[in-house]
Amino acid sequence: MAVLEQLTSQQAIDLENAYGAHNYHPLPVVLTKGEGVYVWDVEGKRYYDFLSAYSAVNQGHCHPKIVGAMVAQAQKLTLTSRAFYNDMLGKYEKFACEFFGFDKLLPMNTGAEAVETALKICRKWAYEVKGIDENEAEIVVCKNNFHGRTTTIISFSNDPVARKNFGPYTNGFIKIDYDDLEALEEALKNNPNVAGFLVEPIQGEAGVYVPTKGYLAKAKAICEKYNVLFIADEVQTGIARTGKLLAVNHEDVTPDVLILGKAISGGVYPVSAVLANNAVMNVIKPGNHGSTFGGNPVAAAVAVAALEVVKEENLAKNAEVLGNLFRSELNKYIETTTIVNLVRGKGLLNAIVINDDEDSDTAWNICLALRDNGLLAKPTHGNIIRFAPPLIMNETQLRECVAIIVKTLKSFE
Ligand SMILES: Cc1ncc(COP(=O)(O)O)c(C=O)c1O
Repeated sequence: MAVLEQLTSQQAIDLENAYGAHNYHPLPVVLTKGEGVYVWDVEGKRYYDFLSAYSAVNQGHCHPKIVGAMVAQAQKLTLTSRAFYNDMLGKYEKFACEFFGFDKLLPMNTGAEAVETALKICRKWAYEVKGIDENEAEIVVCKNNFHGRTTTIISFSNDPVARKNFGPYTNGFIKIDYDDLEALEEALKNNPNVAGFLVEPIQGEAGVYVPTKGYLAKAKAICEKYNVLFIADEVQTGIARTGKLLAVNHEDVTPDVLILGKAISGGVYPVSAVLANNAVMNVIKPGNHGSTFGGNPVAAAVAVAALEVVKEENLAKNAEVLGNLFRSELNKYIETTTIVNLVRGKGLLNAIVINDDEDSDTAWNICLALRDNGLLAKPTHGNIIRFAPPLIMNETQLRECVAIIVKTLKSFE
């Protein structure tokens, strides 16, 4: 078999199974092309993409402006490392800082790297600005968090599948319940060693848990009271996904440290970033942190184009309007059935909870049936199915998708 020969779905699956590490359990569908809200499998069947690569493809598949920026830059200069300056990085940093309202940006590639970066910045700030004794800094995190897969990050996960047999774990983290302000105040009030509070504005991987209204603003106020950095992980919720540019914007919160990834590149290239003001970011000095690919010219060109698309195409507003429509249409169906308990979410980050045991395979089987009916989604935890289409979707397409979802769910009644 020639390496570039066109494969059938089964051949592609067999190859991954034989030669790839089994670190994922993909839905059996083999995609070869994407455009806008659609993807196609190798047999030519078209699907609505209702996962958007875990919210990386907010601007739609292969957005011509973003791909164009990438191709143009790739033909000119791809990588210099940060040993030298390049003429794209500074322009991108200025653009992104003004876009999100911060003094400085530290460029990385993946979401997990950006989270690691934020943790390092927070610890260094703790010792050099807050005055915590060396090696004593602690960072408060939430139970059921998902911040990525590195050793330090899984050290403060409570998902046994992500953690087990990867120890020894990194110290210095305190876990509290999500959406629990009393627990936050309790963790901070008698502990001067707390340096930061790392939080997802909506817990995406855990099953799209939206906290109580006011939680983020009050949590930020508690952090201010105890001189603790409020660190928002907006890798999944950012870039218009929830109906605002950032999910913290719903409560007018400005984080001390903002973590972005995924859709900051429109899913075209791995780009992530940490933003903060000078009082925090200036603790980072040459040699403290870096990445060969972080801030490369292609990443810079892609990120500027991807952020421009978010503004030009009004994606936040579209996510808000279509998200409201999605939940209200699904709620009409939920009133008539016992197969789904509820729909929840914000903007176009939503999930339904299937009325079955957490470890049943009903959600998986529903996703297989959705696939057969032309829509791709994936269970997140147990009986929860996340729905996160590209934000460029229009109302007609969304209504068609709701019809597919309802028809599929009805076949499980
Ligand atoms: C909130 C959050 N943080 C961090 C990450 C990790 O991003 P990456 O997979 O790019 O490392 C994810 C990925 O899903 C995420 O949802």
